[in-house]
Amino acid sequence: MNALNQATLAEAKELGQVIIEAKDLTIDFKKSGGSLFKPKQYLRALNGLNFQLREGRCLAVVGESGCGKSTSAKIATKIHKATQGGIYYKGKNIDDITSSEELDAYRREVQMVFQDPFSSLNPLHTIRYHLTRAMKLYHKVTPEEMEQKLIDILEEVGLTPAKEVLEKFPHQLSGGQRQRVFLAKTLVIGAKVILADEPTSMLDVSIRIGVLNLMNKMKHEMNKAFMYITHDIATARYFAEDTIVLYCGHMVEWGSTEAITQNPQHPYTQLLLAAVPDPSRSIHDKLPTHRSLETPMWSPEKTGCPYAARCPNAKAECTEYLPEPVQIASNHYTRCHLFS
Ligand SMILES: Nc1ncnc2c1ncn2[C@@H]1O[C@H](COP(=O)(O)OP(=O)(O)O)[C@@H](O)[C@H]1O
Ligand SMILES: [Mg+2]
Repeated sequence: MNALNQATLAEAKELGQVIIEAKDLTIDFKKSGGSLFKPKQYLRALNGLNFQLREGRCLAVVGESGCGKSTSAKIATKIHKATQGGIYYKGKNIDDITSSEELDAYRREVQMVFQDPFSSLNPLHTIRYHLTRAMKLYHKVTPEEMEQKLIDILEEVGLTPAKEVLEKFPHQLSGGQRQRVFLAKTLVIGAKVILADEPTSMLDVSIRIGVLNLMNKMKHEMNKAFMYITHDIATARYFAEDTIVLYCGHMVEWGSTEAITQNPQHPYTQLLLAAVPDPSRSIHDKLPTHRSLETPMWSPEKTGCPYAARCPNAKAECTEYLPEPVQIASNHYTRCHLFS
């Protein structure tokens, strides 16, 4: 093996293996019915996304409501199918995962965690029921092994005394505890990738940090790969090594979270960061302004940068075509005419 290959391998080990990769990920949703005289119209919810999820690391997908965050995770769980490009799992296009064994393995290894854990837990059943069912679906274990495993996992996620928690119903737990049950479920199943869609948005700020800490532990100690979907760039800073900033289905800035939050380049990222509440700011400080509050609906026919209408620095070419990605630093990229 030559020195370059050795260096690449060492780097991959350091970073963690790529487990999920999006290549040119694009999806169009049909907007209106279309008829003989009226052509079908499409909404382009994602346009050419490229990103990687690595074992033991977290990628934050940040952006305002409707920018396509959940859609990207839903494609990864095969709820939606990409119109162009796709998601690769350990190098294989997930559209080609079709046999029942492969589908079972994929569904076991790639799990989604939702914003509202209450809606995903049946209120009529205990935590024991939910976890036992998940375990039986994917693993063959004796009743004694099952009991021990459930207790170990509940203790792992900080739900103690585990024996008591097992007998509780979802409504008897707090929002943070329910989210922990959901994370416990991913452990019971044996997931390798967790697509967490706004997992802390419905939690009180003081509870949020505990859930983020638990996810951090799962990342570092259990080598789980996380996609952390959030509209809150401040929590991305706390939890994710890498970040992509989405605007209207387009990646406008991406790379290391530190670079993006400390040295944001795209006007949209700058706006997101300026909007983060800062206790040192006072009521007299002026908040950032921008030209328009309207987020455009993107379509396959549209060209240019989707942020142009809102951007305070927009130039003529911004509405004409989308610029190529520009590298700002070693792991920091943006797509903006100000840099092209
Ligand atoms: N199944 C669907 N059919 C049609 N449009 C959809 C569907 N799912 C999402 N969309 C649209 O795609 C865009 C992105 O949605 P979503 O991924 O849910 O955004 P986010 O999670 O960032 O709030 C939105 O404009 C939304 O209305
Ligand atoms: Mg969403």
